[in-house]
Amino acid sequence: QKVAVLMGGPSAEREVSLSSGRECAAALRDEGFNVVEVDAGPDLATRLSEISPDVVFNALHGRWGEDGCVQGMLEWLRIPYTHSGVLASALAMDKERSKEAYRAAGLPVCESGLFTKADVMAGHVMPVPYVVKPNNEGSSVGVYLVEEGAAPPVLSDDMPEIVMVETFAPGRELTTTVVGDKALGVTDIITDGWYDYDAKYVPGGSRHEVPANIPQDITDACFDYALRAHEALGCRGISRTDFRWDESRGIGGLILLETNTQPGMTPTSLTPEQAQVSGMGFGKLCAWLVEDASW
Ligand code: DAL
Ligand code: MG
Repeated sequence: QKVAVLMGGPSAEREVSLSSGRECAAALRDEGFNVVEVDAGPDLATRLSEISPDVVFNALHGRWGEDGCVQGMLEWLRIPYTHSGVLASALAMDKERSKEAYRAAGLPVCESGLFTKADVMAGHVMPVPYVVKPNNEGSSVGVYLVEEGAAPPVLSDDMPEIVMVETFAPGRELTTTVVGDKALGVTDIITDGWYDYDAKYVPGGSRHEVPANIPQDITDACFDYALRAHEALGCRGISRTDFRWDESRGIGGLILLETNTQPGMTPTSLTPEQAQVSGMGFGKLCAWLVEDASW
């Protein structure tokens, strides 16, 4: 089978995607696939017509690759592709609208809202501490934490005109990958400070405990919430749902932050590690995604 691995692209997570793409391409070659690596540029549709792959393996992250855009193009070209389709991708990438879907499904999320940049800079739009983020980015790009006693944030020119503001959920950082209809495991992410871009991608930037050393009811709840979030958005293939757990509040302290439809596959990422620890293995996970591909 000829598999085109899409990577790179123009998003703020381009470098992350190049790393994910290289890892997935190498794993698929080891599994016996005929792999073509494609850096997704403006000529992507033409390139794919020339390559004529049996399946597209989507290793893109962020805007255009994770938000339904490339998925729509692949539907148009009638090429089976991995991971979520147009609607689930678009919904998951919109942090505010995906929260509405989680609330409707009875899943616990932070209080949040969309505000103009000008309003956010003019005064506190919610009680401190809170977090300001672009509504549609990943990898902690453009995340501001406004702590107690701090002035309203000065947002950079790169931030979009409308931003999402959510109450800060304290506690441990947990994450669960879903593969089809199964949850792979729970990872506890241990950092010195914030789990920001560097903590995510610089080797040694964070320590991962997998399976997490947490009570069984919290593990069960992570599995349950991750599976329900996957379903509420209509995800396909794999997804990874991120949580904060304030252990002083027991199970009521577990909050769903977001679901990623294109989880990172880099050497420091969480999903490949969960695949290894669960016994599935990273190569088998990538091969499963190719088998699961459709349009
Ligand atoms: N947005 C990054 C790639 C992740 O969620 O893993
Ligand atoms: Mg994300």
